[in-house]
Amino acid sequence: MDKFLIRGGKPLFGELEISGAKNAAVAIIPATLMVEGVCRIENVPQISDVTMLLNILQEMGASIRTVNKTTIDIDCSAVEKTTAPFELMRKIRASYYLIGAELGRFGHAEVAMPGGCDFGVRPIDQHIKGFNVLGADVQVKNGMVYAQTENGLIGGTVYLDVVSVGATMNIMMAAVLAPGKTTIENAAKEPHIVDLANFLNSMGADIRGAGTSVIRVYGAQKLTGGFYSIIPDQIEAGTYISAVAATGGEVLIKNVIPKHLDCITSKFIEMGVSITDLDEAVLVKRDTPLKKANVKTMPYPGFPTDMQPQVVTALAMSEGISIVTESVWDSRYKYVDELKKMGAQIQVDGKTAVIEGVKCLTGAPIAACDLRAGAAMVIAGLCATGETIVEQIHYIERGYEDIVGKLQSLGADIDYLKTPIEPTEKSVLRAIS
Ligand code: EPZ
Repeated sequence: MDKFLIRGGKPLFGELEISGAKNAAVAIIPATLMVEGVCRIENVPQISDVTMLLNILQEMGASIRTVNKTTIDIDCSAVEKTTAPFELMRKIRASYYLIGAELGRFGHAEVAMPGGCDFGVRPIDQHIKGFNVLGADVQVKNGMVYAQTENGLIGGTVYLDVVSVGATMNIMMAAVLAPGKTTIENAAKEPHIVDLANFLNSMGADIRGAGTSVIRVYGAQKLTGGFYSIIPDQIEAGTYISAVAATGGEVLIKNVIPKHLDCITSKFIEMGVSITDLDEAVLVKRDTPLKKANVKTMPYPGFPTDMQPQVVTALAMSEGISIVTESVWDSRYKYVDELKKMGAQIQVDGKTAVIEGVKCLTGAPIAACDLRAGAAMVIAGLCATGETIVEQIHYIERGYEDIVGKLQSLGADIDYLKTPIEPTEKSVLRAIS
């Protein structure tokens, strides 16, 4: 398994570019299923979740053309089948967006139950509730979701019991071609929800209110191809902000929408980090000791749960005692034991972590257990004295484009250790290919 080798203790300096938003891209790519003609999509992040989704669409018969490093043309006009290899689909969470897209286009869907990060139970009952309201009968069996309609979907009103990003986007997608009006109440408001709505509207949909808790979708006749550019990744930017907060230094983070970052920067400013909003950039500086802070994760515009492991890692080296409450996921502290191996003082009790800041961490062999925890392991390694080996980096590559290259450009001493393929493995691989 490939690894990262980090020699920590160096502050970060310089500038870097943020890539396109993972959680927007993984919804927009399945949504192209509902569009007649070519969708040219720009600012596509080079991450494995995107590659996986493109493979799934290709398996279903879509034509995919790479225009340049971050631009792809997707044409799903020729897609007829609604199934793709089970193994591919169940690898990532966002495959659940195929349910909404297939229902919207074909009036039926056959999709593997989604995979994704292990935060305890991750139900899709709210997605199903929405599809039922639109007239679909949904069965879950043998690890598959089967959704059927008699005569296609019809608009309706659904009130979400919990604020769910996935359910909001999936129902919005399914409703786009459903005759009549669909209203989604208690909807999630994340920037990537607005980005999906803007993408669909630029292809001919009529969605209003995305970004608020009430979204209205007026069914369109059809969607036709066009051009769209994905928003910058709020969480990737937040991850680099927490890296500078933890290591010290001064970094200009470019290609961001500062407004999307307010929910993150306001907390780091509380911790004594200097953050200046510029045009499509933020300047982050830390040269005084990091202060303690209490954090509670919440749906947007609250502090994002996808920034929780990163802020906990920074607080592990702050002055004083901080309390972090995870209010979105049941168990999102599995990574804490890895930080403890490096000398962090953290007590976890259910959804609460009590962090007593220490002067510094010491390097150790640690492993990522999911995407954001993986990013936090890298931040810990950047701060620690000595060498840190980070394993299970495939989790990190699911959502971070070229994290090693970007950190090296800021002066970090980090290397990508590619594990040589054994001769036997080589012959096996040759046999397979
Ligand atoms: C999305 O997951 C993101 N994933 C997650 O980011 C993120 O942590 C999460 O939203 C919250 O912001 C993608 O966008 C691909 P939810 P999702 O539905 O849609 C409960 C990352 O690191 N719930 O908003 O799965 C659920 O149990 C990933 O990029 C139901 O009860 O999250 C949770 O407690 C990790 N029933 C809460 O709602 C449902 O049908 C929020 O979940 C759906 C959700």
